[in-house]
Amino acid sequence: MPAISASAPGKVILLGEHAVVYGQPAIAVPLNKVKAKAIVAARPDKPAGWVGLHAPDIGLETTLMDLPANDPLAYAIKLVFDELGVSRPPAMNIRITSTIPVAAGLGSGAAVTVAIIQALSRFLGRQLPNEQVSTLTYEVEKLHHGTPSGIDNTVITYSRPVFFERSSKGDGDRVETFKVAIPFTIVIGDTGIPSPTSIAVREVRCAWQEEPQRFEDLFERVGGIVKSARRAIEQGEIESLGLLMNQNQELLGEMGVSSKELDHLLQVARATGAHGAKLSGGGRGGNMIALVASEMAEQVSQALREAGATNTIVTEING
Ligand code: PMV
Repeated sequence: MPAISASAPGKVILLGEHAVVYGQPAIAVPLNKVKAKAIVAARPDKPAGWVGLHAPDIGLETTLMDLPANDPLAYAIKLVFDELGVSRPPAMNIRITSTIPVAAGLGSGAAVTVAIIQALSRFLGRQLPNEQVSTLTYEVEKLHHGTPSGIDNTVITYSRPVFFERSSKGDGDRVETFKVAIPFTIVIGDTGIPSPTSIAVREVRCAWQEEPQRFEDLFERVGGIVKSARRAIEQGEIESLGLLMNQNQELLGEMGVSSKELDHLLQVARATGAHGAKLSGGGRGGNMIALVASEMAEQVSQALREAGATNTIVTEING
């Protein structure tokens, strides 16, 4: 049996994080410069049922049997076995590598899961359709934080810019790919401060429970901005998109998920000529993004690094 490999990109949330958990739309794009990869190879020297796991980036060398059931890797593999009705899989080794920075809001966990699910299901002789890959990945995402909106698994599985709206009735999320009239460039800057999404999401939930009216109003305003941003992208109005990103950032600040390090990088990006800038993902730390003219990307990147960003990535978004 030949080795089977699959890879999945990172992702960036362009607009709408947090509000998306409460049913508002959000826009996310794949980040193709960084990838997670899974390679599944037969191990005829081992008994059936044996599954070796090797993830050199995180120093993991183990077997499925030795991982706790709630380990995300183990859970992803078991979900595929269950989905395909495989009770005694052929012996195999799964090797996982990733260039996606971890705990930085760039979707590393979801990308690893998508790559495993795709490679493993193909290895077992049945390629799962995207919709199923996304649903299974969502189940694994729940281990990371209890109430994910579903946007990460969606954008990473489909590997296209998506306009995503979580269903409030559990009757299917609204997932739309859309036209990017003119490709645009974003610079991603990492504050270097790890910030687990689960904590930010939980704190927003507590704040919303304390002040439901204020927070619902904030979420709704974010939703309006996201819809306008989609139109701006579809019509190639890049400067309007920048302004909308700034407005979204204001509201994220009011939700309490920005931080002084993020605010500093945002201010530096804007002062260096970015059309707009905002945090991306859970906030508090992690990454910010700046929308820039392509010829300004290097300059903004350098300014961000001088201002303390531990890493920057320049990426072009196209349809
Ligand atoms: O930190 P990230 O990139 O995984 O993004 C979290 C986005 C939130 O809207 C805050 C949570 C979610 O599940 O959508």
